[in-house]
Formats: sequence, structure tokens, C-alpha cells
Amino acid sequence: MSDHWRQFVKRLHPEGIPWPGSVLYNALSSSEIFLRHYELVAHDVAHYGGAGCILDIGTGPGHLLLAMRKVFPDTKLVGVDISPPMVAQAQRNIETYGRDPRIEVRVAGANALPFADETFDRVVSTGSLHHWKDPIHALSEAHRVLKADGYALMYDLVRDMPKAVWEDVRARFGGFRLALLWLHSFEEPFLNAEEMDALGRRTDFVVEGTRFTGALCCLVLRKAAASVTNTEAEGQPGHGSDVLTHAAHARRYT
Ligand SMILES: C[S@@+](CC[C@H](N)C(=O)[O-])C[C@H]1O[C@@H](n2cnc3c(N)ncnc32)[C@H](O)[C@@H]1O
Repeated sequence: MSDHWRQFVKRLHPEGIPWPGSVLYNALSSSEIFLRHYELVAHDVAHYGGAGCILDIGTGPGHLLLAMRKVFPDTKLVGVDISPPMVAQAQRNIETYGRDPRIEVRVAGANALPFADETFDRVVSTGSLHHWKDPIHALSEAHRVLKADGYALMYDLVRDMPKAVWEDVRARFGGFRLALLWLHSFEEPFLNAEEMDALGRRTDFVVEGTRFTGALCCLVLRKAAASVTNTEAEGQPGHGSDVLTHAAHARRYT
């Protein structure tokens, strides 16, 4: 997809998914390829250690919260979404799969998170970043509500999937589903991995790089305990050691 097309799609693209899109998306996200990805992401988040409280931004129908409930049995899981019909859908799904006091969903936009500073051990998001009209502001909100040394893990589809990832996804899910994902990229303003990395570098986070979990690219962001710039952090042992880092490009992606 050309950059002009992406900018055009981005302008038309609604930030929150309204009804009946919420119902259609709920059906789509109940398919095997989506459910498998929520499981993969939940286990991926667990690699960053235990957590008392996790926030999922743009939670949509809440499937990631349900997948994380299995992996984090003692963790408080909070989902927010800017779309009231989507939050209602998430509430229905949580009721269906067993009401749980550890899971809470509410209507809120990524740009104005209704939580005190340093509330969460992790902030996660799947498939929502490319919807955000002001992603820098949204990431600064994620930074504010995250505890020091906490991770924000931003997963999204990207428009340029590396060949190895493409082949892995085809082997796991089949060529037909992969083709549907590829077609999807023409009507959604996805970034690419380098652009996700560059976005992170325009925030107060330390960017540990990008890597893939299934078909989803994950931007790995750490909230440094003290004020550490990305340049200083790159000199630290372990920085970016287990992730595929990409060159930063100083461009605007809003
Ligand atoms: C493609 S859906 C992904 C939903 C879910 N995370 C998943 O992986 O199935 C994107 C979601 O992000 C929500 N969203 C978009 N912009 C948002 C914003 N600024 N703040 C919070 N939620 C937002 C939409 O309403 C929608 O539910």
C-alpha cells in the first residue's frame, strides 16, 4: 500500500468502531486465527513476568482479557475502548464466558485514560494503534499510567510482514487466511515495523525494538525508572538483545 493511500484511508477511518461494526468485528475476532493470536499475545505478555494489574487499550470485544485471565490467574485486568458499543460487546462476552471480578471494562479513549499515574504493571494493546488519531499523545498516556520499569507492549498488524513471518503464518493458519489478512491491509491504515519503532522514539519510553508474535508486530516500550533517553538506553547491556530492532525514522505518522 502506498503512503498516500494509507494517509487517505487513515483520514476516512473512524477511531472507535461503531455499531454494527462492533458486532461484525466480534464475529471476526471469534474466529480461530484471532483466538489463537490472543493466546499467543497473552503468553508473550507473560514473558515480561508477573503483574498485579494490566491495562488493555482498545480492548474491543475483550478476547485478549479473556485469554490473559488464563495466563495471569491473580492479575487485575482492565480493558478500555473508545466505542460504547464495543464495550457493551466486551461486557456480553465476559458474561458469556464467566463473569469475573478481576476483569473490568469501561469506555475511555487512549488519549485520556481515567487512571492515576503509575497504576499498571503492563499496558498492552492489540490491533488498535493504527486507529489512533494522535498516537504520540496516546502513548504518553500509556507511559503516565504505567509503573516505573513496566512494559507497554503494542501489537498490531503491519503492512510489510517480513518473509519469514509471512511463511510462518501461512504454515500455521493456511494461505487462505493469510490472503484475507493481506487484503485487510488495503482498507486499514497499518504502519510498518520501522514506523512503529519511530513512533515509540517520539515518546518518553525506552524503545526496546519490534518483533513478531504470530502475524502481529509488537512494539516493545519500557518506562525507565529514572529519566533515560533512548540513546542512553541503547548503550545499556541487554537493550534490544532479544528483539529485532529497526532503524528510527524521524517522520510524523499521525
Ligand atoms: C481492530 S479493533 C481491535 C480490538 C481488540 N484489541 C482485538 O485485538 O480484537 C480496534 C479497537 O480499538 C478501539 N479504539 C480505536 N481508537 C481508540 C482510542 N483512541 N482509544 C481507545 N480505543 C480505541 C476501537 O473502538 C476498536 O474496538
